[in-house]
Amino acid sequence: MFPSHRPRRLRTTAAMRGLVGETEVRPNQLVLPMFVKEGATEPVPIATMPGVVQHTRDSLRKAAVEAVRSGVGGLMLFGVPRTRDAVGSGGIDPNGVLNVALRDLRAELGDETVLMSDLCLDEFTDHGHCGVLDHDGNVDNDATLRVYGEMALAQSEAGAHLLGPSGMMDGQVGAIREALDRAGHTSTGILAYSAKYSSAFYGPFRDAVESQLTGDRKTYQQDPGNVREALREVRLDLDEGADVVMVKPAMLYLDVIRAVAEISDVPVAAYQISGEYAMIEAAVAGGWLDRRAAVLETLTAIRRAGADIMLTYWAVEAAGWLR
Ligand code: PBG
Repeated sequence: MFPSHRPRRLRTTAAMRGLVGETEVRPNQLVLPMFVKEGATEPVPIATMPGVVQHTRDSLRKAAVEAVRSGVGGLMLFGVPRTRDAVGSGGIDPNGVLNVALRDLRAELGDETVLMSDLCLDEFTDHGHCGVLDHDGNVDNDATLRVYGEMALAQSEAGAHLLGPSGMMDGQVGAIREALDRAGHTSTGILAYSAKYSSAFYGPFRDAVESQLTGDRKTYQQDPGNVREALREVRLDLDEGADVVMVKPAMLYLDVIRAVAEISDVPVAAYQISGEYAMIEAAVAGGWLDRRAAVLETLTAIRRAGADIMLTYWAVEAAGWLR
């Protein structure tokens, strides 16, 4: 008795597999997150993210040009300031590290790439929270929105095309949209971190930005077990004018990406975060995984789940493999 249905026929050759392949990742769907450190004179390696550095102003410019040449679709910038305060004023200051770097890159690259900036206070506060605190030490949602509005203007004026509010404050997309529109910055867009989970996998990133946080972010980031709540966050952000919605982290949240992709009428992004990078790099360093195969499989899976845009620390390498 022979089976009449033989799906293996479509797997017989590389050409055949190419012909029937369902999921493709394009280099310009990849976004490279980059760190710039105020006052650095040499790029500083990040121990928990092998291959990733805190850039100097100069090395950032060069690496950004190289990344764009490699074919990536955008850059997401994070600043590491020299000094911090309770209200994160370095984020609003036009001479703050992130705004200076945005201006550098916009001058260097113009509209050749999509320049994005992290819009959050955690890198700039001395307590490490994503917002300002009230008298009891809790994150004050609405006071934070006012700061985000000012930060949005500063980043837009510095040249960002897309602002990435990542603090999970209620109403952040609406507040930023209003601040931008009121100042006439109607074409600056918002890539909203809509469903951002309170994840153990942000650890290496917190080294990368020298985070001062001692507690956790559970009063604003989402509980990893919740998906209905993610959809509610996405609907609110769409209502408030998000141009792109994002799910973060990526690999452990493929079901959330899929669910969001089904209800979103704007592009869906996913952020393959520092811990996802670190665990694969560690396995590669041990000789336990093949880097190229492992990385491309993760990106294919995130794409298959429904992401249109992928933020990944492997963006440049992967763009090279995919060209
Ligand atoms: C907050 C922010 C974080 C990341 C991006 N934006 C850290 C956090 O929420 O603690 C994490 C990115 C990563 O882990 O790669 N500004």
